[in-house]
Amino acid sequence: MALRNDLLLRAARGERTERTPVWVMRQAGRVLPEYRATRARAGSFLNLVRTPELACEVTLQPVDLLGVDAAIIFSDILVIPEALGLPYTMDEGRGPHFEHTIRNEQDLLRLSASEMEGKLEYVTEAIRMTRRALDGRVPLIGFAGAPWTIFCYMTEGKGSKEFSVPRRMLMEQPALAQRLLDMITTATIEYLRAQVRAGADLVQVFDSWAGALSSDMYSRFAIPALDRIVRSFPDVPVTLFSKGAWFALEALSELPCQVIGIDWHTTPAFARKAVGENKTLQGNLDPAVLYGSPEEIRRQTREMLTAFGPRQHIANLGHGVYPDIHPDHLRCFIDTVQSYQHHQP
Ligand code: CP3
Repeated sequence: MALRNDLLLRAARGERTERTPVWVMRQAGRVLPEYRATRARAGSFLNLVRTPELACEVTLQPVDLLGVDAAIIFSDILVIPEALGLPYTMDEGRGPHFEHTIRNEQDLLRLSASEMEGKLEYVTEAIRMTRRALDGRVPLIGFAGAPWTIFCYMTEGKGSKEFSVPRRMLMEQPALAQRLLDMITTATIEYLRAQVRAGADLVQVFDSWAGALSSDMYSRFAIPALDRIVRSFPDVPVTLFSKGAWFALEALSELPCQVIGIDWHTTPAFARKAVGENKTLQGNLDPAVLYGSPEEIRRQTREMLTAFGPRQHIANLGHGVYPDIHPDHLRCFIDTVQSYQHHQP
């Protein structure tokens, strides 16, 4: 099926586009009252994730209501640990929680990476439904968590400021840690392959806790897993988003991915210098700017667009949109990108 709006895919491939494409991390979520209504019908976040009709419905909401240039399938990165054998709950206001965690070899032996595709059939079914419903309006993004970030949740059992449990495991039990990282990586590749077969046009890998590691530890434990993932998708654009890891941009630029996500701690000029000329950059407006006035949102968005330049850029926030942002402020960001005219040389 030919896409009517393929700006995202052309920008990902580094091709010239009439304007900069824009989508927003967490665009399907609590920022939209329509999302909250669907979630209330689902009963819980996890029911929403596991019911393809409802996941499809909320995936389409930002396309219909905000006019973004891409849809991202509604799911969560934590479906992977669950499919490996570690169930979780999403506690209102407190985030994810795992009752069991991986601390030793016995814990690891209880996991199984077999039949990932079957266990995650509800996600691929949601992707097939969404593709049909989109009918070529915009590309559909699939995603997974990066192995390091998934490792953090499987060992710590919840979100954390320090992630001392996973970082301690890298130091005290590096061989065990590597086995768990390898297992997560294998499962993630199978999962992303299934998403692509179901109709995802591009895949993004979220390494949300990259910034918990030093440059050296990130190169040793996180980069090799990302390298394995990227090399498994020679024909699909892949975006790597390592949040808080400005120090890893050079190492990431050596992987055969097409797009690198940039958080708001990193300036566009620094990112471009570290990454070089061969990749598209995605980002990076500070999500807190959307608390500002429309004038201020327009000013900072235009400044960002100028700094990245007219090519090899996909506009986004530097991380997910905060749930208490007014939808009109999010619209203001999107409209500013879509109406911006670069001074073409
Ligand atoms: O971007 C999108 O619009 C697609 C949907 C999406 C969700 N989670 C939905 C969601 C994506 C891409 C994710 C990825 C995800 N999940 C990440 C990586 C991206 C990032 O933000 O760094 C992480 C770390 C998670 C794990 C997770 N899931 C956390 C920490 C939370 C927050 C808990 C809270 O209460 O704020 C979630 C829940 C979650 N995932 C929500 C949504 C819309 C909110 C749940 C709700 O509806 O209350």
